Amino acid sequence: MDQERLLRELNEFLRIPSVSTLPAHNQDCRAAAEWVGAELRRLGCHDVAFLGSDTHPVVWAKGPDVPGAPTLLIYGHYDVQPPDPLAEWTTPPFEPTQRDGKLYARGSADDKGQVFCLLKAIDSANPPVNFRFLIEGEEEYGSKVLFDLIQREPQRVRADAVVVADMSYVAPGWPAVYTTLRGLCYAEITVRTSKTDLHSGEYGGAAPNAHEELARLLTRLKSADGKINIPGFYSAVKRPSKAELGAWKKLPFKEKDFLNKRVQGKALVGLKKYSVLERLWALPTFEIHGVLGGFTGEGAKTVIPAAATAKVSMRLVPNQKLATVERQLAAAVQRLAPKHVTASVRFLHGADPAQIKVDSLAFKLLDQAFKSVTGRGTVPARAGGSIPVVPALASAGAPVILTGIGLPDDRLHAPNEKLDLKQLWDGIKVFRTFYELLGAQRHM
Ligand code: BES
Ligand code: MN
Ligand code: MN
Repeated sequence: MDQERLLRELNEFLRIPSVSTLPAHNQDCRAAAEWVGAELRRLGCHDVAFLGSDTHPVVWAKGPDVPGAPTLLIYGHYDVQPPDPLAEWTTPPFEPTQRDGKLYARGSADDKGQVFCLLKAIDSANPPVNFRFLIEGEEEYGSKVLFDLIQREPQRVRADAVVVADMSYVAPGWPAVYTTLRGLCYAEITVRTSKTDLHSGEYGGAAPNAHEELARLLTRLKSADGKINIPGFYSAVKRPSKAELGAWKKLPFKEKDFLNKRVQGKALVGLKKYSVLERLWALPTFEIHGVLGGFTGEGAKTVIPAAATAKVSMRLVPNQKLATVERQLAAAVQRLAPKHVTASVRFLHGADPAQIKVDSLAFKLLDQAFKSVTGRGTVPARAGGSIPVVPALASAGAPVILTGIGLPDDRLHAPNEKLDLKQLWDGIKVFRTFYELLGAQRHM
């Protein structure tokens, strides 16, 4: 492998600030799509197309036809999350930098580095597989463009298998395949207490305060012990089987290390009667991402805010449904807000949870590929994160392999996101081996 050339090319991709949730980066998202398109053409693809949006298109392509060979659909995303807080990056997020065998950049692990890995594994080897590609640019914002495309043209996901490399090993040296993804319900909750802001001396003591009302509402929605107080919220939640809980105990996961090395906080929180892995993988959450409104500028201003908004989200687990949870949250907010405030909920985006059976032939081949390259096969695990479009990728019946070459400490969405280069080089070999094993199959 010409590692120097590969790094040069990956750096080009990582330098494009394709942040999908910020309209100021629309042209950058388009540029990242073009980068992927050019790469696919170089791999000999025909039918390279930019679909569904001018600024955040889905990049679709077909590899060279190999009659009789299995069809593999490769999914990934070229968009990234916003890089802030910028001051916390050791080197700038869109200037990829190597330190101690790691490549630091926004998107290095999520997901540009992994898309790169899947594509470069095809290069030069040209395995006998009918490749299809769906590389989207809106994963971090709910995947609307790709959802609409699959609904209009369901044949795009017809394949013998789908591979998604957008996650990590469960621990260094422990590659994984994932049996569930959590879903997501992202919302803004706004409370209004008066027509305009008010002088806190003239009115304080008698007028309601929007921030205070919002704070109370939020703490009613979730109490200090981690319980979410939305009527009906837990009723669809299914506990993992005894066998699955038992298998998790054998994974190289230590609650202490999770606290000290990864969270780097003073204590873990949440529903203490469940293990940390069960809380991360099999229970729903309610998180406050940020609160807007009132006075947050420099200095001091004595004002009673008339309105306040919280950005919140809930992670959903099998068998919760996004549409049901939206109704439950909206109803709970109305019920818990006092009569003297006007409360409203606006839903931004979301995803149903996904559940995947990992017993088909394609999984065995990937397991074999990991074993031969890294010395260990894949363990089944669950994922706390979400990939909204996964249920739609499975809609034509193909098994969807959720895997990845990242490590748990890659700092996705956070400052100093990185990818270990060893993981990248191994990953290219793993997927190359996987494609070769798959290409040797005639009946899938
Ligand atoms: N690659 C992640 C999903 C992920 C992270 C799965 C960690 C498993 C473990 C993906 O890019 C992501 O961040 N998805 C968003 C989706 C949301 C914005 C709709 C997420 O989970 O927050
Ligand atoms: Mn991702
Ligand atoms: Mn992400």
